[in-house]
Amino acid sequence: MTVSIIVAKAKNNIIGKDNQLIWRLSADLQYFKKKTSGHYIIMGRKTYESMGKPLPNRTSVVITRNKDYKIPEGHYVVHNIEEALKLTKSHNQEKAYVIGGAEIYKLALPYVDELLITEVDCEPDGDAYFPEIKPENWKKTSEEPHIKDEKNEFDFTFTVYRRIQ
Ligand SMILES: NC(=O)c1ccc[n+]([C@@H]2O[C@H](COP(=O)([O-])OP(=O)(O)OC[C@H]3O[C@@H](n4cnc5c(N)ncnc54)[C@H](OP(=O)(O)O)[C@@H]3O)[C@@H](O)[C@H]2O)c1
Repeated sequence: MTVSIIVAKAKNNIIGKDNQLIWRLSADLQYFKKKTSGHYIIMGRKTYESMGKPLPNRTSVVITRNKDYKIPEGHYVVHNIEEALKLTKSHNQEKAYVIGGAEIYKLALPYVDELLITEVDCEPDGDAYFPEIKPENWKKTSEEPHIKDEKNEFDFTFTVYRRIQ
């Protein structure tokens, strides 16, 4: 099973503030939907609650320490990243997407094969950070820049990194 992180991050590694996203990037939402549809998406409880309900056409796997946490049928609550990956693999998935937030990206990083990073050309204030990536561990395999427009408030670049060690 290939494990991918998918994230949109600013130049200063900020990914969110007050449990919300901080930019309006329609193209990135479409990219996220296209990549993750049909797959299992692994997330922290705070990210799950920021969305309010499971995203359509995807199976949510929510990580929490709360043993009584409930989510709609057909989706799963687990209590650590290893359990999330084990469950996804045992459901015969060839891919798993880790969709955040900051705490879960950090926990998942050692298990991840691929990073899908939307690099957003801004340096906002925020309280959730993407973890530092060791450049020697990753090779950029694709890069697709876009200019801001009426639906995308900053320039941004879709990048893909593969683990090399
Ligand atoms: N830009 C992006 O691409 C992107 C993507 C996703 C999220 N975000 C942003 O990221 C922010 C949320 O990130 P966050 O770091 O605050 O929260 P998070 O990673 O979504 O969720 C944190 C929660 O996960 C659970 N958890 C964490 N470590 C655990 C462990 N070792 N074992 C069991 N459960 C564990 C805990 O849930 P309990 O407290 O229930 O135990 C914890 O409160 C928001 O601002 C959101 O908008 C941005």
